[in-house]
Amino acid sequence: MLARIMGTGMAIPKLRVTNDDLAKIMDTSDEWITERTGVKARHLAVEEGTSSLAIEACKKALDNAGMDAHELDLIIAATVTPDHLLPFLSGEVQAGLDAMQAAAFDMVVGCSGYLYAISVANAYVKSGMYRNILIFGAETLSRIMNWEDRSSCILFGDGAGATVIKASEEGVICSVLGTDGKAGPALGCEARPLQNPYVHNEWDYPYVKMAGQEVYKFAVRTVPRSINEVLDKAGISADEIKYFVIHQANLRMIEAIAKRLGQSMDKFPACIQETGNVSAASIPMVLDKINREGKLERGDKLVFAGFGAGLTWGASVLTW
Ligand code: COA
Repeated sequence: MLARIMGTGMAIPKLRVTNDDLAKIMDTSDEWITERTGVKARHLAVEEGTSSLAIEACKKALDNAGMDAHELDLIIAATVTPDHLLPFLSGEVQAGLDAMQAAAFDMVVGCSGYLYAISVANAYVKSGMYRNILIFGAETLSRIMNWEDRSSCILFGDGAGATVIKASEEGVICSVLGTDGKAGPALGCEARPLQNPYVHNEWDYPYVKMAGQEVYKFAVRTVPRSINEVLDKAGISADEIKYFVIHQANLRMIEAIAKRLGQSMDKFPACIQETGNVSAASIPMVLDKINREGKLERGDKLVFAGFGAGLTWGASVLTW
């Protein structure tokens, strides 16, 4: 049996912040941000938290799948910005959904989190250990951005995207995953410093630090390669793929990836214009967008692919 997506859902905070809004509080412009990234607006959490956004997205995904929370036997969260270190996010969501029979755990793989989570879910389904799995990405990245660093904070947003998976004859055909820990410092964020009776450290930069151009080059090189690899493994050509659902980090990057694959941009749906980069939530968010727009038909072949902190990357090919 394979992991098949039965339903999708997403949630974003109420507060919508346009590029012009940001230009009022920092030295930037709509023109600069749009030209370099394609982002026009992002939603930032004020009243919401990672768990409330996640619960909203998960309820919508369950509803879309026609599945009751009590039927879930596993919940996997992908996040780097939970509301609490403990209890972890998937446990909070399990409680919020009242899915008390489901096991739950979090995965911390940055923007590749959803890709890692779906390949883990597929392995569980194939092994026969779990049948009904909820996977979601949820982030309030605004809490770890330095709002005085205009080269990084303008890119990101807050939100959640969820998918409900069921064991089925068709589903995820295969996946490839990769990590280059040596390149990790290109996109980092310090953890809470060591503090105990024997050592005292200040938390001097508790924000995301990013070498933008390095990450850009890495993504444009790695994503097309991993897509070609997963397609080869599946024995499917790029022309047979209806949609390439790519991590929403930068619209220019997605255009460069489409060009390298020799595929039209019509096959690369996007939501980044309205959401910014929402890390692990971005792939299920775009998927939800095209699902709600009625653009998916059972039997369609899709590719999910992305990259992120670690540095990591991943790609999956699946039957909708
Ligand atoms: N508004 C206006 N000017 C800005 C700016 C902003 N928000 N941010 C940076 N600049 C300025 C810089 O100070 C620099 O000015 P200078 O030439 O006078 O020094 C100039 O714009 C160019 O900066 P640079 O950082 O070289 O821009 P870039 O073309 O590399 O674009 C990114 C920056 C971040 C948009 C781009 O590198 C990128 O998208 N990288 C990938 C990041 C990513 O996706 N990360 C997440 C991965 S999951």
